[in-house]
This record gives sequence, C-alpha cells and structure tokens, in this order.
Amino acid sequence: MCGIVGYIGYEQAGSFLLDGLEKLEYRGYDSAGVCLNDGSELVVKKAKGKLKVLKELTQNGKLLAGTVGIGHTRWATHGEPSDVNAHPHLSKSGRFAVVHNGIIENYQQLKDYLTSKGIVFRSMTDTEVIAQLIEYYYKGDLVDTVIKVLEKLEGSYALGVISQENPDEIIAVRKESPLIIGLGDKENYIASDVTAILTKTRNILRLENNEIAILKRDGVKIIDTDKEEVRKEIETVEWDVSAAEKGGYEHFMFKEIMEQPKAVKDTISPRIRNGRVVLDEIKLTDEQLKSFTKVNILACGSAYHVGVVAKYIFEKMLRIPVEVDLASEFRYRDPIINDKVLTIVISQSGETADTKEAMKEAQRRGSHVISIVNVVGSAIAVESNDVIYTWAGPEIAVATTKAYSTQLAVIYLMALYFGDKLGTIVPDEYKALVGELEKLPERIEKILEHKEKIQYLASKYFNSKDVFFIGRNIDYALSLEGSLKLKEISYIHSEAYAAGELKHGTISLIEKGTPVIALVTHEELIGKIVSNIEEVKTRGAEVICIACDSHPEIESHGQTIFIPKSCDMLLPSLAVIPLQLFAYYVSSLKGCDIDKPRNLAKSVTVE
Ligand code: F6R
Repeated sequence: MCGIVGYIGYEQAGSFLLDGLEKLEYRGYDSAGVCLNDGSELVVKKAKGKLKVLKELTQNGKLLAGTVGIGHTRWATHGEPSDVNAHPHLSKSGRFAVVHNGIIENYQQLKDYLTSKGIVFRSMTDTEVIAQLIEYYYKGDLVDTVIKVLEKLEGSYALGVISQENPDEIIAVRKESPLIIGLGDKENYIASDVTAILTKTRNILRLENNEIAILKRDGVKIIDTDKEEVRKEIETVEWDVSAAEKGGYEHFMFKEIMEQPKAVKDTISPRIRNGRVVLDEIKLTDEQLKSFTKVNILACGSAYHVGVVAKYIFEKMLRIPVEVDLASEFRYRDPIINDKVLTIVISQSGETADTKEAMKEAQRRGSHVISIVNVVGSAIAVESNDVIYTWAGPEIAVATTKAYSTQLAVIYLMALYFGDKLGTIVPDEYKALVGELEKLPERIEKILEHKEKIQYLASKYFNSKDVFFIGRNIDYALSLEGSLKLKEISYIHSEAYAAGELKHGTISLIEKGTPVIALVTHEELIGKIVSNIEEVKTRGAEVICIACDSHPEIESHGQTIFIPKSCDMLLPSLAVIPLQLFAYYVSSLKGCDIDKPRNLAKSVTVE
C-alpha cells in the first residue's frame, strides 16, 4: 500500500523517480508526487490520479530539477485522493519533505498538539504530522530530529525525508512497512520494493524495524535509534529485469497468466529429487510433526482461497483437522491455538498487515509458523519460523494469478512431504502423485494454448449483471477464487457458492440468462454437481462447465471448457486457468483498467 522511491546521485533525479514510481504503481494509484531539492529549495509536484497525470504535469520529468529527491504513489487511508493529500508532504516553512507508507495511529493527538502550537495543516493526512514534527523539533541536525520524531510516532511507517538545508542526504527509516536501499555507483536509492530499482542496481540493503539509513551520493550508513552503526550484508537480487516489465504484453495480468507454467515449474522442480519431495526449508523434526493435532491456515483474499483448497487436501491426505481463517478475523476472535497446532501463513507480498499480525498472534500462543511467501526477505518470510518461497518472480498486476498457482504448488508439496512423514500416504499413491505433480506445468501450458474458447465465452457474457460460480468440495474452494478474480477486475457482481447450498436461499437470484460457472472436476461428486446444474438451468441460468476431458458427457449439461485429467488434488491448478482467463477477457472487453482495478492496491499494509 503506497510506494516510495528516493534518489541521490549526480544525475537528474526526476527520470528515476518517475520510472521507479511506475514500477511501484501497483501498490497504490490514486495520486502521485515527487519532491526534489533544486539546489536552493524543495520543489513539490503532485497530482490526483494515476502516475500519467504527474508525468504530464512534469513533462515526463523534464520540469524536475535536482539530483536528490523522493517520490510517492498513494493508496489513500487518511484523507480522500486529492492533490493536496498526495505525498510528499512539506513542513510549515517548506524546508522538510516526507513520503510515507503506513499509518500513524496517534496522528490526531500529534496534530492537536501541533495545532495548539499554531501550526496550520494543509492536508487531511496522517503523514503531514511527520513533516510538521520534524520542523518543530529541528535544531540543526536532521538525523537527531528524525530520531526524536520517531519516539513520538505510533503505528507503521516507511519514510523518506529530505530537507532544504541538506541537499546531500536522504534519511530513510522503517517500522513494519517495507523499505530497501539500493546501492549504485556514486548514486543510491530507496524503494518500497526491488522492482523499482532493478534497472539501476541489484545490490540492496534491507532495513530492519527502527533502523535509519543516511544516504549520501557516495555511500550509505545505517544506524539504530541510539546512533550506533549497524553493519549489514549486501544482498544481490536475482530477479530478472524483464520480469518487472510488460515484455510486449498489453497487461501484466495476461503476462503473468502466461508465465504460470514456468512459475509452477520453478517452484516444484527444485523440490523434487529422485522422485521424493524435499523441503529443506522445514526445520521441524519428525517427532514435532507428529505431535501436531491441528493445522491452522491464515491468509487474506486469494491466498485465503489457497488455504481453503489446502483444507480439503490436508484433511483428506493427512487425516488432520484443518481450520482456515481470514487473518483479519483470526486476530480478534481469541483463537484456540497452542504449540500442538501447526500454523501455515500464505502471502504473496509477505507484508499484508492482517496476515502478519495474525501470524504473530499465533506465535505468541506457541504455534510454529511455516509461511508460504513470494517476496524474498519480506516481513512474514523473515518473522515466520520456517519459510517456503514460491518462485513466481515479481507479480505486478493487482489481481494475483501466478502467485496463487505457485502457492497451490507449495500446498501439494507440503501434502506429499507431510503425508510421507506421517505415514498417511501409501508408497504407490505417493509415487503416482509426484509423477502427476511433475506434469502440471505442461498441462497448464496446454490449457493456455486453447484460450480462444474462453475468449469467446467472455464475449458472450461480458455484459452480464451477475455471475455465479458453483462447485463442491475442492471445486467449491476454487469457485471462491474464480468469483473474486472476476469481480475485482471487471466490476461484475459475482458470488461463489457451494453448489448444494444454492437452494437454501441464493437460487432466488437466478433468472433467465444468468451465467453460472460450474466447476465439475471432482470425480466423486460429478453426479451431485450435475443435479445442481440442472436446478439452475431449470430457473433460466446459462451454464458454463469446467470439466476434465475424461468426462465428455458433461457437454450435454452446458457449454464446457475441458481441462486435462489429473488426480483430484491437483485439478485446482488446471481449472483455475480458464477462470483467470475468463475474468481477464471479460474485463478487457469492458475496457477496465485490468492491472490497476479501482479502489484496490497490491500490498495491503493497513488493517
Ligand atoms: C486478489 C489478490 C488479493 C491478495 C490478498 C493477499 O487477486 O491478489 O486478494 O491475495 O490481498 O495478499 P498477499 O498474498 O500479498 O498477502
């Protein structure tokens, strides 16, 4: 939520700031702004709307002068999206500028105090208090002042600060919100994530909570709040530059859908050796593993939907009760959880505030946490007990596709790994499942090769008012994801229902022409879901089925998209592809902003 960049060097800062913000726009896109020290004063340019408005305003950076600057792309929390609420925020006299990602929880109290001292606020944001506090406490040393201000702040923040008097430094600090430092040759950078600086450098430093970075042109010093120097290892980022570019595709979402065979392969292959699943990342002993009486899964949004799939898989294969919780609910319901419960936390970004806090709650209660995370070095990855990375590469489109698929892949690996250790999977079944798992990438590829039929169905239904998704068992778990994907990017109202539950109320919404997408992959329940399909057809629904090619008869019940047959456990990875493509094509036909749907942001770092 919100993206921050900063540059200090000998080149003009404007072009990097705008380019970096473009890479971070997925984090928030209701307004954007930059502030540069032009040698005599701080000059701010900011504008409501997407980054392109700011680009026009600054003639693509040509109007920006200065070799030190900070920039921000916003997802509004305090104060509506507007020019005035956009960051950077200046102090009263304009001598200090701040960009901020996070939330200052005690901002009102601080604002009241400063107002009582005669300071007049320009914006409705929590961030402006930081800029005003810096000026209020400033006695000639910016680092000392920032440290003093940090003592006053409650909440989460990643901050970039520049001042008129110090044209040779940027101060950066973080607590709970992400921030990295990029190390260049006689130039240095700050950014909310590495995608913003990949074209400039692969050498980074990761700031920890309450560490302060002092960036100069020729070097970076990290200190703690006692001003003690902190020595850090330089990390080299492996991500390919092209991974954060559209590479000829019209949208990141489509590119990321097409990248799924590779992403799934990259996640699975290194972890299968000689026909066995090897998860070196899990440090639990076999005894510890056997001592768990329950599995608890915590996540938000699509990652939560992966958790729902995992519940069906783990309960069936491991014979252990699984509870899946929305992280935002778990935190506040006094959960029954202790050291006999294994917690699995799923997050693409590794920085979702609710997921992170829910994880800490589980840890406080004694639970061992294994996280499934895409962003290396992110907070959840670092703070969980064990982390299994998904190797999806950077995911830029707000609607997740390849991260979802790689999270599912890790769930399969875990099911096999635990099943083997617990003795709940017999060797023949294990061998067969590993074989099928290895074939997943090519099967996904095959579905992607036949996308025209999905495009055709999207053209038939893109004007629909409502779309329903139904399924049973693991197909129900998948229908949740299909429905979310469609509604978040096409703005069509959609609901996912356990097919057997429809007739307990929701079926009253079905009328002539209502599209119902029925997932018909779960072998044992085909007969049951077919009955539910007939029930909605009788009430006028137009049904699209997703079924395995081993069941050609399904075509007699509705327009059908066939996917290759695999074992039940792995079918969500295949069936989700047509659902993602359907959402994508519908949204494209409606002319929606697919990669940046309204009101959303990629990393949800606020509660
Ligand atoms: C939907 C989507 C979101 C995320 C959710 C959790 O397409 O991407 O629902 O799944 O915000 O985000 P992470 O996985 O970063 O914790």
